[in-house]
Amino acid sequence: MKVFISRDIPAQGIELMRNEGLEVTVWKVDRPMTQPELIENAKQSDALLCVFSDKIDKLFLNECRHLKVIAQLAVGYDNIDIDEATRLRIPIGNTPDVLSEATADAAFLLMLAASRKAFHLHKSIIKGEWTFFRPKANLGIELRNKTLGIFGLGRIGTEMAKRCKGAYQMDVIYCSRSRNSSAEELLQARKVEFDELLSQSDVLSVHCSLNETTNGLFNKEAFHKMKRSAIFINTARGTIHNEKDLIDALSERIIWGAGLDVTNPEPMRPSNPLLSMENVAVLPHVGSATIEARNAMSRLSAENIIHGLRGEKLPNIVNPGIYNR
Ligand code: GLV
Repeated sequence: MKVFISRDIPAQGIELMRNEGLEVTVWKVDRPMTQPELIENAKQSDALLCVFSDKIDKLFLNECRHLKVIAQLAVGYDNIDIDEATRLRIPIGNTPDVLSEATADAAFLLMLAASRKAFHLHKSIIKGEWTFFRPKANLGIELRNKTLGIFGLGRIGTEMAKRCKGAYQMDVIYCSRSRNSSAEELLQARKVEFDELLSQSDVLSVHCSLNETTNGLFNKEAFHKMKRSAIFINTARGTIHNEKDLIDALSERIIWGAGLDVTNPEPMRPSNPLLSMENVAVLPHVGSATIEARNAMSRLSAENIIHGLRGEKLPNIVNPGIYNR
């Protein structure tokens, strides 16, 4: 059976699939595939291993309804029309857990970088602006005993909270669809309403999935309810915040700083005003970009493909409902 992979991935997963006797083809051109290219290649395959920038919408799914499994190399799957895949009974797999620590590290790094203006100061050295000691210049803020607000206390949010609790004894509050009792116990975390999360957090870190309710949620109104000293962190999806409103909130000093691993659009344009703000740190969507996480993601997606092609339940299934009918 044939597997098509839409972007070159670490070898471990490819080896697993070849050892299973599968014929694996990798898209080797170093750019995202267009949808016609993706459809053409998927049509000649039994399974697809894709990435979050591939558009797996109604059109794609109906053109490629023969696929026995689609495995995404990511935890998020907002690029995939899950309802349609379920209707067509195509199992969709993802790669949770193995990237939680790496992504939480990115959030923690952005929090520190924003709080100490680190990316801005690095750039200032390159520009020859490191001159002499000025006791009142370049002052950041400390994090000890501050309040961390987590929006979406799942696996990644919990890892971020653990880091902040361990390093700075931060108080943890969170806003999530459901209660996370184990995190509450482990971190003395307190579940609050959205408005309280906004008004109480010194650092507000977003770890939810992108869906109709979270799309554009962090907008002008939300930023205006936050503390003037607050730092906003987003390592989830760029469209969860309204980037124009964030730029305004930062330039009008409605909030203090921001750290982003995800932007809207991606890639961020080099002329974006956020890139020249002192209290802002931006990374190019690299939350899971560690050797360990990407190797594990490669293996997990391969396992999803192998199980799917054997006609077995995927180890990490996004739409388990397909098995109930
Ligand atoms: C990356 O953004 C992911 O969802 O894994």
